[in-house]
Amino acid sequence: MATLFQKKLSEKCIEFSSKPGDLVFDPFMGMGTTAVAAKGTWRHFFGFEINKLLKPIIMQRLREKKLGQDYRTLTEIRKKIIENAKKKYPKAYEIYMKMQRERLI
Ligand SMILES: C[S@@+](CC[C@H](N)C(=O)[O-])C[C@H]1O[C@@H](n2cnc3c(N)ncnc32)[C@H](O)[C@@H]1O
Repeated sequence: MATLFQKKLSEKCIEFSSKPGDLVFDPFMGMGTTAVAAKGTWRHFFGFEINKLLKPIIMQRLREKKLGQDYRTLTEIRKKIIENAKKKYPKAYEIYMKMQRERLI
């Protein structure tokens, strides 16, 4: 099964490179992690998988994912990134806030 890291990575790639309603294409679907992430973030999806044995697994995972269940607005994503940066990189966060106050970014 796909790890939580793989799921989150697929989700982030989709969030940063497309908008809700866009079409996500994965030519090598495997277990369908990308398609599942697309459905969870309000994207259409389309893909190929040569191994027929994986089809029922992909279909089951897609059935279990509700349309848009993981959707976050860009504002929410940005807020989360900034919160994490504040914890992980306090010095860089300070510089970022200073630049924002001085309207440099
Ligand atoms: C590493 S997995 C892909 C993982 C997937 N992108 C995801 O999001 O979980 C690679 C898959 O590509 C499939 N594959 C390899 N050659 C292919 C081909 N010519 N057409 C379609 N699928 C292919 C393999 O069967 C395998 O399941």
